[in-house]
Order: sequence, then structure tokens, then C-alpha cells
Amino acid sequence: MTSPAPQVPAVSLSDGRVIPQLGFGTFRVPPEDAERVVSDALEAGYRHLDTAQMYGNEEGVGRAIASSGIPGDELWVTTKLNNTFHDRDAALAATERSLAALGGRIDLYLVHWPLAMYADVARVWAVMEEIHAEMEVGSIGVSNFTAANLDRLAEAGGPTPVVNQIESNPYFVNDDLRSNCNDKGIAVEAWSPLAQGKVFDDPQLIALADQIGRTVSQVVLRWTVQRGDIVFPKSSKPARMRDNLEVFDFELTDEQMAAISALHDGTRSGPDPDLFDRRG
Ligand SMILES: NC(=O)c1ccc[n+]([C@@H]2O[C@H](COP(=O)([O-])OP(=O)(O)OC[C@H]3O[C@@H](n4cnc5c(N)ncnc54)[C@H](OP(=O)(O)O)[C@@H]3O)[C@@H](O)[C@H]2O)c1
Repeated sequence: MTSPAPQVPAVSLSDGRVIPQLGFGTFRVPPEDAERVVSDALEAGYRHLDTAQMYGNEEGVGRAIASSGIPGDELWVTTKLNNTFHDRDAALAATERSLAALGGRIDLYLVHWPLAMYADVARVWAVMEEIHAEMEVGSIGVSNFTAANLDRLAEAGGPTPVVNQIESNPYFVNDDLRSNCNDKGIAVEAWSPLAQGKVFDDPQLIALADQIGRTVSQVVLRWTVQRGDIVFPKSSKPARMRDNLEVFDFELTDEQMAAISALHDGTRSGPDPDLFDRRG
């Protein structure tokens, strides 16, 4: 029996659809563990799942959804077009495979990386537009797009992506790009919000968490949602999954928010999108 997490607010996207502000991330959840881990996350109360063709775990995510018994309209599932499938025919086939794995419906479909060094980003976006029109895909957006990449989409005249999923955490706040997205009506999704675990060794965050009687994870995730971003921490442990959901019953002061933002030193947890050319 699963327990929903009604405390998670909904964020309205520019196409009128609403997404739970906090979800569950599945990067580095191995395929053989995905069904169990995602079942645990649904049991903990998560109703928004973030996966990707690149993670290799969509089948396990889909099996967890199917066995949960949770009605489809109570769930939000995001997946991402892999770098190897930007060409039209490959993209359509990859989308069919994702739909089959995830139970026939994708709520949000993202271009995972822009790969602007290989092709005009407007080309893959036109393919996404076709997929949106023709297939069971609720909303379309992008991931790791720079301001210049977004400007190129606007210039080409297609629909505005509803989200841009980008790295954002206390060490890489990404505020210029966040503001650029917000100005364009594009919701920001913050990936690696816990800097892939680095936050847990930070003496300033540990001190702040102790001071307010919260965990480091809750403090950092609260900072993220209080900035207005959508977020989906990953954990393989049920107790941590539950811990990471409890961020809507307290607020950080302006001073505490500023102190966390001041940890920024430009260190990324993942690749620079302008340089990332991985095609797999
Ligand atoms: N679009 C993109 O290019 C992109 C790139 C990266 C990530 N993402 C998305 O963003 C999601 C989140 O990012 P991420 O997975 O890279 O890293 P993350 O969520 O920042 O950090 C995950 C790490 O923190 C640990 N952790 C989580 N909760 C904890 C807690 N309460 N106490 C102690 N440790 C805790 C986890 O360990 P355990 O698992 O052992 O608990 C894991 O090592 C991904 O899963 C994926 O969905 C997208």
C-alpha cells in the first residue's frame, strides 16, 4: 500500500500542465535495482519520477509503476531522448521504446543534451514538436540547454520548451541561466541538487542543519524549492527517500538562503553542456 505525499506543491508549466515540484531521480540506479528502488520511492510517497533513455532503467521504472497500482493520472513521469537518437527516425523509434517501457505515457519528454557542436539545436527540437503532436507525450522540454541554445530555438520559431533541466546546487548555483529561463517562461529543474552527495561533508551546511534541527539534505532541498525550482533527489535508501520529501513544513530565512548561495564556487558535479559531446 503506497502513501501519497500531498504536501508536495504543484508548479504550473507554460503549456498549462502542472508538475509536482519535488520528485525522485533515477540517475545511476542500475537497471537490475530500478524496480525495487522506484517501488520504494512510490511507497515513500513520491509521485514524480525522473528517468532517461541513457540511464538504461526505464523498464524497471515502468514495472514499479505497473505494480504500484497508483492511477496514471496521479503520477508524473519524465524521460529524456538519448544523445544517439537526435535524428528523426531514431528519435521516433526511441520514443516508442520509452513509451512501451513506461506503460504507454510520458508526461514530460526532454532533449537530454543539446550537442550543439554536432547540429543546429532547432533540428532536434522540430523532431520533438512532431513527437509531441503525434505520440502520447504530454509536454516537451530540454535539458542542459544554454541561453544561446534557447535563443536559437526561439529564433527558429518553434514552441517554447516548458522546462530546462540544468545543474543547480550550492556549489554551482547557475543563477544567470536560471534567470534567463524564468524570463522566457521556462521552468527550471535543478539536477544533482545534493551535488551527488558532496553537500553532506560541508561544515557550513552541517552547522546550519544542526542549528535549525533539520538534516543537511532537507536544508539544501528546501533552498532549492524556495528558489522556485523543480527538483528530484536520488537515493537508494527508503529512510533517505522519506527524509528528502520533508521539505515543505519549514522555511529558510533570507540570511540562511543567502549563506547557502554564497557556497557557490563554480564547481560542477557534471559536464559543461558546451563541451559535452557524449553520444551514448
Ligand atoms: N539532465 C541531466 O543531465 C541530469 C544529470 C544528472 C542528474 N539528473 C537527474 O537529477 C537527479 C538527481 O541528481 P543525482 O542523482 O546526480 O544526485 P543528487 O540527488 O544530487 O545526489 C544523490 C546522492 O546523494 C545521496 N543522498 C541522497 N539523499 C541523501 C540523504 N538524505 N542523506 C545522505 N545521502 C543522501 C545518494 O546516496 P544513496 O543513493 O546511497 O542514498 C547519492 O549518492 C538524477 O537522479 C537524475 O534524475 C539529470
